[in-house]
Amino acid sequence: MSILKIARLGHPILLKKAALVEDIESNKIKRIIRDMTETMIDSNGIGLAAPQVHISKQIMIFRDIENEEENHIKVNVLINPKIEVISKETNDSWEGCLSIPNMLGFVKRFTKIKYEGFDINGNLIKKEAEGMHARVVQHENDHLEGILYTSRLTNKMAYGFSEEIETYWKKNK
Ligand code: NI
Repeated sequence: MSILKIARLGHPILLKKAALVEDIESNKIKRIIRDMTETMIDSNGIGLAAPQVHISKQIMIFRDIENEEENHIKVNVLINPKIEVISKETNDSWEGCLSIPNMLGFVKRFTKIKYEGFDINGNLIKKEAEGMHARVVQHENDHLEGILYTSRLTNKMAYGFSEEIETYWKKNK
């Protein structure tokens, strides 16, 4: 396994729609997923999409941190995902992104979604998600569409360096 280089804001691959994966069960795809996992854990992320490691394919991995057992990291894989919004309800929260290090932005997301896609063994996964879980899946799915959270800020001022956000925004709320 290896740790991959992460594409940062300004790299055009982050703005490109990723291609569908056709060889889902291939060793090549399994290897990409293992490397993405190692990269995400190394950089303390909770989600990572393949375009962020310069691979323009519809693969995302993410942690469902609210439902993880203590001291046990479980990484979920979703290949060729489809997302469906199941309620118009939205919520706003701070998001970060490994491609935009040290920054946070306040982003509106749908509270409840349904999603499907394939796991690393090519099995079809169908799930419903809400809250943080739904937020992470929407953030990673956006990467596959070439969209970054900075284009979804609730307002232009709700964006900045994590330290300043912690000091001036989170404490005053
Ligand atoms: Ni991101």
